[in-house]
Amino acid sequence: MSLHFQHDVLVIGSGAAGLTLALTLPPNLRIAVLSKGDLANGSTYWAQGGVAAVLDDTDTVDSHVTDTLDAGAGLCREDAVRFTVEHSREAIEWLIEQGVPFTREERTLGEESGFQFHLTREGGHSHRRIIHAADATGAAIFNTLLEQARKRSNIELLEQRVAVDLITERRLGLKGERCLGAYVLDRARGEVDTFAARFIILATGGAAKVYLYTSNSDGACGDGIAMAWRAGCRVGNLEFNQFHPTCLYHPQAKNFLITEALRGEGAVLKLPNGERFMPRFDPRGELAPRDIVARAIDHEMKRLGIDCVYLDISHQPADFIRSHFPTVYERCMSFGIDITRQAIPVVPAAHYTCGGVVVDHQGRTDVPGLYAIGETTFTGLHGANRLASNSLLECFVYARSAAQDICNQLERVDMPPYLPAWDASQVTDSDEDVIIAHNWDELRRFMWDYVGIVRTNKRLQRAQHRVRLLLDEIDEFYSNYRVSRDLIELRNLALVAELIIRSAMQRHESRGLHYTLDYPDQLPEARDTILTPTNPAQSSDAC
Ligand code: FAD
Ligand code: SIN
Repeated sequence: MSLHFQHDVLVIGSGAAGLTLALTLPPNLRIAVLSKGDLANGSTYWAQGGVAAVLDDTDTVDSHVTDTLDAGAGLCREDAVRFTVEHSREAIEWLIEQGVPFTREERTLGEESGFQFHLTREGGHSHRRIIHAADATGAAIFNTLLEQARKRSNIELLEQRVAVDLITERRLGLKGERCLGAYVLDRARGEVDTFAARFIILATGGAAKVYLYTSNSDGACGDGIAMAWRAGCRVGNLEFNQFHPTCLYHPQAKNFLITEALRGEGAVLKLPNGERFMPRFDPRGELAPRDIVARAIDHEMKRLGIDCVYLDISHQPADFIRSHFPTVYERCMSFGIDITRQAIPVVPAAHYTCGGVVVDHQGRTDVPGLYAIGETTFTGLHGANRLASNSLLECFVYARSAAQDICNQLERVDMPPYLPAWDASQVTDSDEDVIIAHNWDELRRFMWDYVGIVRTNKRLQRAQHRVRLLLDEIDEFYSNYRVSRDLIELRNLALVAELIIRSAMQRHESRGLHYTLDYPDQLPEARDTILTPTNPAQSSDAC
């Protein structure tokens, strides 16, 4: 039997963005935080390098803004960049108040000595400004925020709950556009429940799982982008998919990232013959922005027909490597690679979704009552290429800002009426789940081959043709069979793939992460790619 729940605030996602929002709201609000797997399911737990912020006396807001604009290749919205960077210090102070154990180092100033936070460096940053907890920053942040959330009796943390779709007034045939809640699959019971709320927040992370090779864990399926699109929200700049230059290349390492902070601390990229190649591509060498480094690696791999390149930090003292990068050291060691003595085999992999649901500075989407925060959004901060460690910062700044906006609206927004239950009367159990598995593989492979680091018109057309066939097949499956997590994710992933391809086809230039052999030059004017749904709340092909 399906159940009906009511909360003041429904937060879909338990990563950095979702937990920050829940903890920033007043304790008299009843809040549900959902995760489709366990609570650590998203990217946050796996973040390594750290959080970019203006913390050092020699650093400035203007410098961080300039570096972000520069990495974004002319496409960042300067107001969003300035808004984010100006709030960076207070976001970090809030995290420190929550108890996040950021790495400290001893400092001697004249006669006095003491401790200060260690700041590391990453590609595209002209200052040391990445605050971190060794090389496991995400786990330190997640564990701290989760511990705080568990102490709050007004926050219900619900695992294994997969949001299927948003419930809007339009979907119910009512007058108005407001979002009223969501249908949510409880995986343990196999039932779809109804969650009604005064405010609904998408904090569902990115969509890097649309590619065959990715640094992300299994849940990064763009669920929030797909649900928002179906509910009538615009999406922006989805053609900009960031490929992280250095993921471990090893048959048993499924998706392990080698943090950019290694390059920040002097690691160099080499070919199998030991030649350092990055200076040939950019004067900043290994610390050029990610799009440039990933494309250079891709170019060298294709030119030489090699499976990987090598990242070498072995010239640094072994103690330094082990204390700064314990996670990378141990993980590589488990595969027999001693990074204090050997170079690490690495390849680029899909890492971050720069575009997403269009929101303003308060995280408000086009649908009243529906907010989106974190990687699922398009705020304008990242432009055509995200600057390293700006994404966790975006999660904290926008989550706090959205919480403030919700507080300002509380007086005006009532609890929605009793919402209709999910209708499962027309569906049966699937007897052919192999179709889902097959479509997953097919989709991720052609996205990698045709919509990857280097694109062409022909490749995009091929991908579009295939994804449309898949969408038809998935729609039919979805209409006839009971929903499962795999089916929900595949349906969303295919829709997001189609939106990515459509966005890429509209950009007749190469800029930042979007590189196409048919339009190799950058146009003089930078424009966002904004797609608008014309038939919301209907099927996955609304466009
Ligand atoms: P996530 O942390 O991805 O959380 C998404 C949540 O949504 C999860 O709880 C998931 O279960 C839930 N969810 C999704 N769909 C549904 C659904 N349908 N129903 C219910 N729940 C759902 N960025 C930095 O700034 N610095 C770094 O050092 C850094 N390192 C990284 C290292 C790795 C390996 C990776 C993968 C990313 C890294 N990033 C880094 C990027 C950064 O970690 C992410 O952008 C950020 O953590 C996203 O946070 P989020 O809260 O938006 O989403
Ligand atoms: C890394 O540690 O290299 C990842 C940082 C990021 O994605 O911003």
